[in-house]
Amino acid sequence: MTTSATTTMTTSAVHTLGASLHANPAIEAAIATIRRELAQTQHQLTGARAGNVQLKLSLDEHLARATEVRGRAPLYPYIGSGLGNGALVELLDGSVKWDLINGIGVHMFGHGDGEVIEASIRASLSDLVMQGNLQFNSDAIEFGEFLAHEAARTSRLKHCFITNSGCMANEAALKLCQQKTNAAPRIIAFADCFMGRSTTMSQIGDTAAYRQGIALNIHVDYLPFYDATQGARSIEATVAQLEQLIHRYPGQHCCLIAELVQGEGGFHTAPREFFVALFEAAKKAGIPVWDDEVQSFGRTESMFCFERLDLGQYIDVVTVGKISQACACLYTADFNPRAGLLSGTFAASSSAFATGLCMLRRLQSGGYYGRDGRIARLFNAYQTCAQAFVAKHPEWFPAVITPSGSPMASVIGGTGGMMRLTPFGGNRERIGKLLAHLFEDGVIAFSCGHGPYHLRLLPPVGVMTPEQFVPVFEIMEKSFARTN
Ligand SMILES: Cc1ncc(COP(=O)(O)O)c(C=O)c1O
Repeated sequence: MTTSATTTMTTSAVHTLGASLHANPAIEAAIATIRRELAQTQHQLTGARAGNVQLKLSLDEHLARATEVRGRAPLYPYIGSGLGNGALVELLDGSVKWDLINGIGVHMFGHGDGEVIEASIRASLSDLVMQGNLQFNSDAIEFGEFLAHEAARTSRLKHCFITNSGCMANEAALKLCQQKTNAAPRIIAFADCFMGRSTTMSQIGDTAAYRQGIALNIHVDYLPFYDATQGARSIEATVAQLEQLIHRYPGQHCCLIAELVQGEGGFHTAPREFFVALFEAAKKAGIPVWDDEVQSFGRTESMFCFERLDLGQYIDVVTVGKISQACACLYTADFNPRAGLLSGTFAASSSAFATGLCMLRRLQSGGYYGRDGRIARLFNAYQTCAQAFVAKHPEWFPAVITPSGSPMASVIGGTGGMMRLTPFGGNRERIGKLLAHLFEDGVIAFSCGHGPYHLRLLPPVGVMTPEQFVPVFEIMEKSFARTN
């Protein structure tokens, strides 16, 4: 018998104690019991409902404590009871709400999904709570491999560095671009972009309030994002601006950073031709292309947005987060940095790897993607309900004037699991009031944009069904009616 045959026989017959614990029948039975009990309780959550007066005191007390400890009131009077059912979530006052923002797009499979909870319980048996660069188990490798393989199907991306936030994934991406260009000092970004809140990302992100009091030590050159009202002229104008920047600062840009669907900026989309024209010009000038998909990852008609737009060949670095639970920076072999550039004590928790993988595998194999996938169909259902709503109440939807002076193409927008509605001409104050009313009435949403402002929905596309938009729009009607 050869040595390799002996090794194969030995390894297939022998298990680690860790593996036998994970297959232990007593543990399997305990998990089955937990899932059964959970399902029985959560199935009592069938629709939005008001809170209970006595429980409200407990919610208020927790809100006061949250305010005291943080030194600032939470954005919403949201404190969960720890139970939910898909798109529905129960709060401490016993109220039940449709959660259409999910902590800004994190809980793709909603609240209390049985499979996600099971993955989390199994991960809780791991010897490690947090995994990192020095110490990790096989799930960290599987997580990185999953993302790298998925990305490599339609791009040159090859490697994956895992981080514990979208912002840290972006910090890693910026470092790669800087090292690749020998510390070129300038960055090209799009107006209205958002990238996280480290001191550097707060400076690149184009929101004035997020940079206040920050020492400005980053050189950012902004390009206008695609303007649908201008069409091809918008592409020509933006390319001309990019070429001007390249001419003005030759060899001084370390990257062109793009969100292929702008998140915080207003759920702006752009056609492939827009990005192709810009990426071609950047590549010609030796400027790396970095695609920030932290918000859009998993939510459009393909897992990576660059795939749907067929832009993979241009992407040198991509960052993902939110729905993946653990975040990551993926890059081509060419951008693999020198030792020492990327590391960190924490990559992610064992439960983030387990639940992230559970969700990503379901998304990959569950018919979610493609033009007729579940995500596209959910967007169509949203659009149909929104169109009927706008037609019934034109008084709430006057024309919206964009910063370029032209009216916005439509008050309904977005793509996939990124859904936008622009009432009240995009007026910030009225949309703020509307969000508070929606919350009280049973729908949790958020805003986006910098003027015009929009109503932003990031529903749990993994579990929300098209029919669920019917009760959601009924609540919306009530909340709109009392917003003036
Ligand atoms: C496009 C984009 N990039 C980066 C980030 C930062 O991610 P995190 O909040 O996980 O640091 C966000 C967060 O909303 C985002 O939308």
